[in-house]
Amino acid sequence: MTALADRIASFFSGNDSTTDEGLRDLFISELKSVYYTEKRAVDALGEQAEASTTNEVGTAFLTHQNESHNQVERLEEIFKIIGIKTEVLTSDAIDGLISDARRVISGTEPGSLTRDAGLIIAAQKIEHYEIAAYGSLLTLANILDFSQSAELLAKTLEEEKETDRKLTVLAESFVNNRSKEEEDKHPGSHHTSRHIPTSSDVTLGGPLGI
Ligand SMILES: [Fe+2]
Repeated sequence: MTALADRIASFFSGNDSTTDEGLRDLFISELKSVYYTEKRAVDALGEQAEASTTNEVGTAFLTHQNESHNQVERLEEIFKIIGIKTEVLTSDAIDGLISDARRVISGTEPGSLTRDAGLIIAAQKIEHYEIAAYGSLLTLANILDFSQSAELLAKTLEEEKETDRKLTVLAESFVNNRSKEEEDKHPGSHHTSRHIPTSSDVTLGGPLGI
């Protein structure tokens, strides 16, 4: 086994063509996989919007569906820039996350808030997966000096993070409404002094606190 620093130094001095080729292949397979993910996400967001209970949650899904169309086009541009055929590589990960979202729909009452809470959780899992995929692709693009591709990937990564933040705010409104309800029912009760975690003190992904 060699030291990572030595391998990286030799890679950047241009003496490591095997690594260069390997990372390029990795970039391409990750690109094809995220292309598949994004296309599947576009359809899933439509289903989730249709199944949602409140306008706010439905609109959040439709807004991100629109963005996702642009994200698909950006990926197609990257295929062109690096000169390879545009094609998908199927991913069990996104297939699984989408079937989890469908299970939320089949397992909750239409018109219930529980359904919206479940859909937000499912959507955030998908966002986090996309953030990891785009973040890794961006790192690879930077290492490989694919600067045009890196710029496009950074744009999409920022949109995914913004969507995740918006979903967190929506999820927090469940907690805030609940606490307002408790305050209305029991003014000055111990419920109101209870510490309710918000996005600033919970890690991403658990904003519902359940
Ligand atoms: Fe996306």
